[in-house]
Amino acid sequence: MPLMGLGVFALSDESECIAAIHAAIDCGYRHIDTARIYGNEEAVGKAMQACGVDRGELFITTKLWTDDFGRETTRRAAEESLRKLELDYLDLYLIHWPMRERTEESWEVMQAMRDEGMIRSIGVSNFTCRRFEEQFFKQTDEIPAVNQIERHPFRTHPELVDYCREKGIQVEAYSPLDRGQRLQDPDLLQLAEKYEKSTAQIMLRYQLQQQIAVIPKSASADRIRENAKLFDFEISRQDMQTLDALDEGVASPNWSPEDDWF
Ligand SMILES: NC(=O)c1ccc[n+]([C@@H]2O[C@H](COP(=O)([O-])OP(=O)(O)OC[C@H]3O[C@@H](n4cnc5c(N)ncnc54)[C@H](OP(=O)(O)O)[C@@H]3O)[C@@H](O)[C@H]2O)c1
Repeated sequence: MPLMGLGVFALSDESECIAAIHAAIDCGYRHIDTARIYGNEEAVGKAMQACGVDRGELFITTKLWTDDFGRETTRRAAEESLRKLELDYLDLYLIHWPMRERTEESWEVMQAMRDEGMIRSIGVSNFTCRRFEEQFFKQTDEIPAVNQIERHPFRTHPELVDYCREKGIQVEAYSPLDRGQRLQDPDLLQLAEKYEKSTAQIMLRYQLQQQIAVIPKSASADRIRENAKLFDFEISRQDMQTLDALDEGVASPNWSPEDDWF
């Protein structure tokens, strides 16, 4: 899996989504992260068809939404995603959210579709250590290829990352720019000045140096290019520790602390 990709959540306008993907492909991205619930798989498919890059070079992820859990519904949803994306296989198919019921059935269908060649790798998203231990690994022996979680310097989930590493699960960071909310943080600004980079580039490079995949979203060609310029500098060990210290030790806001599910 290429460690850097383009996230396309909220790129719901077809021409905007296609333009963003083409800008990304032009500056070297080969990995696109979408989901059935984003409603833009057709636009992603059109962009792929017209991008001029061989299918084999591209890495396309989509996700199974909670409404589609279950045996027949999972297969139908995955086939529908393939059709909309105009693909004959998915590189990565993720369970988008953990659910109380029918996870086992969905996972079995995903395994079967992988064995049939329609999916290359299968994984999960938004799974905590507790979900893995209390549910997932009670139902299957198969290690998911990926766990896609919210992660950025303010929310690093060290325990979960260690757990995934021990199991051999690749961690992939969604909202790696904290949705653009804290790009003016003084510590980030200081490091950006030191390395002559943007705060967004510091946030993304921080994760790459930990072998964590990043999928920043942008609708702007300039910012898409900026977010890809991550391979010509290295953050020192001391500055990595400064970034580690920004962690606020809180769970993802999507994983409600009142909800004993997470
Ligand atoms: N599995 C899940 O449950 C889940 C949940 C959320 C997201 N995701 C995935 O992760 C992807 C990324 O997460 P996200 O969209 O939530 O947030 P994000 O990538 O952390 O941040 C996106 C925001 O940052 C801005 N931005 C991007 N690059 C910038 C730069 N260089 N300088 C300044 N601002 C910049 C964007 O604005 P502009 O567009 O105007 O540039 C946008 O408002 C999604 O697209 C989706 O694929 C998965």
